[in-house]
Amino acid sequence: MDKFVIRGGNPLVGTIRVGGAKNAALPAMAASILTEEPVILENIPDVRDIQTERSLLVSMGAEVELGYGRASHRTTLCCRNLVNPEAAYELVKTMRASTLVLGPLVARMGRARVSLPGGCAIGARPIDLHIKGLEKLGAQITQEHGYIEASADRLRGGHITFDKITVTGTEDLMMAATLAEGETLMENCAREPEVADLAALLNKMGARIEGAGTSTIRIHGVEKLHGARHRIIPDRIEAGTFVIAGALTGGDLIVANCDPLHLGALLEKLQECGVKVRTNGESVRVIADSQLRAADVSTEEYPGFPTDMQAQYMTLATQAEGTSVVTENIFENRFMHAQELVRMGANIKVEGSRAVVRGKTPLSSAAVQCSDLRASASLVIAALVADGVLSPMAKPFSIASTTLIAAMSVLKKNCVALARRSGASAKCFRVEPPHR
Ligand code: EPU
Repeated sequence: MDKFVIRGGNPLVGTIRVGGAKNAALPAMAASILTEEPVILENIPDVRDIQTERSLLVSMGAEVELGYGRASHRTTLCCRNLVNPEAAYELVKTMRASTLVLGPLVARMGRARVSLPGGCAIGARPIDLHIKGLEKLGAQITQEHGYIEASADRLRGGHITFDKITVTGTEDLMMAATLAEGETLMENCAREPEVADLAALLNKMGARIEGAGTSTIRIHGVEKLHGARHRIIPDRIEAGTFVIAGALTGGDLIVANCDPLHLGALLEKLQECGVKVRTNGESVRVIADSQLRAADVSTEEYPGFPTDMQAQYMTLATQAEGTSVVTENIFENRFMHAQELVRMGANIKVEGSRAVVRGKTPLSSAAVQCSDLRASASLVIAALVADGVLSPMAKPFSIASTTLIAAMSVLKKNCVALARRSGASAKCFRVEPPHR
């Protein structure tokens, strides 16, 4: 079992650079299916989901050269010889974003066979809106043996109004529509920065997309797309996680290489909690030199407070004075971290989609179980303030996860980097590598 041992107790001081956005990199990699020419992506993050998507594309016949360790983390993808337009259950079950290949495969190859994802640690994760949208674009869809089979000689433009806002649904259908005959109008689209970033890449590839980043997207289909080079936007959730870690530990932290405009709802909320936040073009400085105050939060689609920051915010709320109500509106089962925080000493009552957090309660180290990626991050940052003092006698806090160690690795890498670069250097905290 993978395990991290973290000794907390010191403020985070220094500068940390944020990597490329996982949730922008995954659709960008899927977009390479749309052309025979190479697509070069820079700033791809070093996380397990990227390896999974690479395996998926390679299983279809793509050539993928992941460029970690080189300048800009340059990755080249070439889908000239796609032979097997299938996303198998073994891959899809470990990464829901695998369904992002559905639209591009039907658009370019005329057929796709993609496993239904089923449930996961945060909720049901249906893909009915992807399917409904593809049907609107003229695809024939059948479902058998847990797989979706979609086919179309050539997709044709259509009018899609999403019943519910979906991020990967918007991305999947936007990709499909780039090669459809005629114009597609999509309404009630997700407005996340990752959707706009994908559209920027697709337009560099020769697509004609207008309005991405707003709720109405118009796509003029083209015959063919070509290769392109694109730099993935910084990861706003990773940035937000470090901002919260800085605030929680009472540190003075500069989170660099991010886009503060993508962090609006979070930064506003932290200011309400009494955290001092200074932004410039591409960094956020977070100073927490006074007692944190409680504040309610409710997750919403972008530009609202992100569901992907809810767990980390809940950890912060355990250290704020007063009662914070945390409401989760996007996924039905995204409070798995709450009980683990309670085991560390937090006072949290979950009532349906609301968690009532009463602070401030001291946290003490404990062995805890991680569920999804963001829940894991929330427990790591809880560990940073557990037991109060850094001492060789401090009890180790271990985080065990069988499935989400990639996320932890990123955090570990950045934590270690942070410790090295910061003025307080390695005294900040210690994160041991995973043991198997
Ligand atoms: N939904 C449907 N039908 C669909 C699609 C979605 O009912 O066909 C529902 C979902 O069940 C959910 C809501 O719509 O209740 C929103 O889901 P959405 O489709 O927007 O989520 P997603 O695209 O599967 C992406 C991110 C998630 C992030 C959510 C919400 C990627 C690869 N994943 O998921 O990221 O939480 O949007 O912002 O972009 C993470 O990074 O840890 C993560 C889970």
